Amino acid sequence: MSMKDNNFIYESPDGGNTVYKRAFGDHISKRELVNQEKFSWPLMKDCITEKDKSAMIEFIKTAGRFTNGPKVKEFESEWSSWLGCKYSLFVSSGSTANTLLVAGIKEKYNLEVGDKVVVPCMTWVTNVSPIIQAGLTPIFCDVDPRTFSFDTTNLEKISNEHDNIKAVFVSHLFGISADIDAYRKILPDAVFIEDVCESYGASYKGKKCGTLVEGSTFSFYFGHHMTTVEGGFVCTDDKDLYNIMKMKRSHGMAREALPEMFEKYKKENPDVHPSFMFMTDGHNLRSMEINAVLGISQLKNLDANNSVRRKNFNRFITMVEKYPKFFHANYQVEGNCSFCLPFVCKNSKIKEKLESFLQTSGVETRPLCSGNLLRQPFLRNMKEMPSADQYPHVEFLHESGFFIGNNHLITDQEFLTLECLVKEWVDTESRGE
Ligand SMILES: Cc1ncc(COP(=O)(O)O)c(C=O)c1O
Repeated sequence: MSMKDNNFIYESPDGGNTVYKRAFGDHISKRELVNQEKFSWPLMKDCITEKDKSAMIEFIKTAGRFTNGPKVKEFESEWSSWLGCKYSLFVSSGSTANTLLVAGIKEKYNLEVGDKVVVPCMTWVTNVSPIIQAGLTPIFCDVDPRTFSFDTTNLEKISNEHDNIKAVFVSHLFGISADIDAYRKILPDAVFIEDVCESYGASYKGKKCGTLVEGSTFSFYFGHHMTTVEGGFVCTDDKDLYNIMKMKRSHGMAREALPEMFEKYKKENPDVHPSFMFMTDGHNLRSMEINAVLGISQLKNLDANNSVRRKNFNRFITMVEKYPKFFHANYQVEGNCSFCLPFVCKNSKIKEKLESFLQTSGVETRPLCSGNLLRQPFLRNMKEMPSADQYPHVEFLHESGFFIGNNHLITDQEFLTLECLVKEWVDTESRGE
């Protein structure tokens, strides 16, 4: 190592010399950072603040009730205001929100066992399992690598091949909004629902994702835009759907229904005690007061934190755009509210090498969502599932994509280090070493 022209020169791990001068005066080398184990880019950092903790402590000290109660109601009402919807139900996770919404749609629209629901071939696994668990049939659609949601050409093909599609479950992945209007044009008679678990704060044509169709779901698992540790929401403007889902969230209980509906159920069923009267099949999908207290506190910072996520995403795009030989950078940016930083490499070799380089440099990585869902043993081993290779875009993303975390706590210095690491790797590759 030597100092020269005020730049820090070091020998890169492959033997080549790389020079980095940091914008704000200090200098950095990958070797130095990695050796000293200083650099770490985890998927998520601890985002539960002192204020959040104080709110929970205060609640524990003073509360007389810990099960689903007034704090849950308060959180539901604040979330509905933030999102701009009429009804929100706080549940135990994003996955149980999906289960509840699918079950609610099935009941409201009298869907029958075997009815078809279109899903993307790349999304989180618990978007598809609730459909199967409800006895419905998932019809897989390829995705558009720009939006990571439905590929409209493939959706049109599906609509021509299947004459009886009842519902469409859209996923807004990675904080990028899906082109819902285009999908609705192709399948105008289907019921649409949207999963916004990874994309709250994103908007489509000026409207918040989560308010675009009949119902929507959100996750507050630790790595998401905000957290209740575990938790989620299901949201809708539809009173009947809300009524059904509110009962289904709590065992199917009549007394969970809207007051006027509860009165009606009591009159219709005088032989059953109203306290324990069950109108529909249900689960227990409720969350608890303490999670709601955390949610209320976290929600106060959501917009500010989301604006940092957006800035990080823009900076990420500027970085990958510099290396068109290595990366695709054709993301649907408008309305974005980034969940993570998704690398889409030009091929699987590049992906393998870069991912492993970043991992050894302290960067945590993950596949793009569940990758090609049809490669997952859970679905691959099921009867009558299509083969994974029928979905070329998803196959490409499965092989050539991965993501790293994005969050509001990433510092300028950390981002600069990431940029240096990627530059070092690209330089080394470009020299063919
Ligand atoms: C798109 C999507 N849907 C649903 C979920 C499930 O959410 P949860 O982890 O809260 O069950 C996730 C989880 O990350 C997700 O990314």
